[in-house]
Amino acid sequence: MWSESSICKLLGIQYPLIQAGMAGGATTPELVAAVSEAGGLGTLGAAYMKPEAIRSAVRRISELTKRPFAVNLFSVSMQDDWRRQREAERALNAVRERIGLKPGSEADGELRTLHTPDWFREQLTVVLEESVPVLSTAFGLLNEADREALQRRGVRFIAMATTVREALEAERRGADVIVAQGSDAGGHRGTFHLTDHPDGAQVGTFSLVPQVADAVQVPVVAAGGIMDGRGLAAAIMLGAQGVQMGTAFLTCRESGAHPAYQQAITASNEESTVITKVFSGRPARGIRNTFIDMMDESGHKPLPFPSQNTLTGEIRRHAAEMNEPEYMSLWAGQATRLSRSDRTAGELVHSVMKEAERLLKSRKQDA
Ligand SMILES: Cc1cc2nc3c(=O)[nH]c(=O)nc-3n(C[C@H](O)[C@H](O)[C@H](O)COP(=O)(O)O)c2cc1C
Repeated sequence: MWSESSICKLLGIQYPLIQAGMAGGATTPELVAAVSEAGGLGTLGAAYMKPEAIRSAVRRISELTKRPFAVNLFSVSMQDDWRRQREAERALNAVRERIGLKPGSEADGELRTLHTPDWFREQLTVVLEESVPVLSTAFGLLNEADREALQRRGVRFIAMATTVREALEAERRGADVIVAQGSDAGGHRGTFHLTDHPDGAQVGTFSLVPQVADAVQVPVVAAGGIMDGRGLAAAIMLGAQGVQMGTAFLTCRESGAHPAYQQAITASNEESTVITKVFSGRPARGIRNTFIDMMDESGHKPLPFPSQNTLTGEIRRHAAEMNEPEYMSLWAGQATRLSRSDRTAGELVHSVMKEAERLLKSRKQDA
């Protein structure tokens, strides 16, 4: 049967449906465990988490489910570049003034000392020590030693690619499964090298998935704009073995996304999102809001990742405390009109599977 696809066997799951690891707090242990309990693969978005916080979350997930789950990390340099900090502070001061925060620095005053921690090594150690069944990454791959360390412990590795070129590189460097992330997707573009595509690769899910599926031997999972059983059925028809869904899970009951963010998602539509670097320095798709408009109008070129992310953190946290979505990062894909806020993650998994099953069966009968 189509739903017993190769990724199910490989990852030890019942249904070919992965809940995307989403850094920033949406993927609570309860959400991750609920998806895995329902037969999909839940994923802890752990990129911004301290290693010991990952350990606690992984232990909590393991208490809630005995089924496989994944941890997601960023495989990218966390080297800061503060060369244009004064200019960046100046651009952000207009936003700070609006929301009642003190300026980041006075006109010629001393600049704040900021630093982005690089926890990747320690995060990976926790994944290995805690026997996490699956690791997935964004923005890049693993070096040979890390890939071998996973292999020795039987940890499966899922890489995310935004072009056929990246998918081929991921296959060559040992990915067990490749997520083909179309430009419809919410959150950061997974593009490895921004020198090739400064705004991230712009290939839509429908174009990307069959081209990646033709190019690689390992199973391919489609991501970007998939919200229901129609999306899963279409992905299967395009040659994918399954789907990875992010935005659809943000408004489920177990989601840790801020209530104002969830409301912004349910109130948005297919025209609401843009790809922007103003929050983090890397291109990411989110609902357009006042922060994006003000930064665009300022003409300021964001600092590179991760420095811009660290710099804007205070504003985003303050906006969240004030329940003010206009200054929060509202990552979401292009299919938000299909979002629903009245169900649990398990209900979403079952409804996607049921609908896809019906659609693929009726197609067979027609043929
Ligand atoms: C709020 C949010 C945060 C995300 N964070 C991550 C992340 O930390 N790591 C990752 O690999 N992908 C991340 N993504 C991208 C997802 O892996 C996936 O490609 C995307 O959600 C698919 O598109 P959809 O949101 O339309 O379902 C994020 C997506 C969203 C919506």
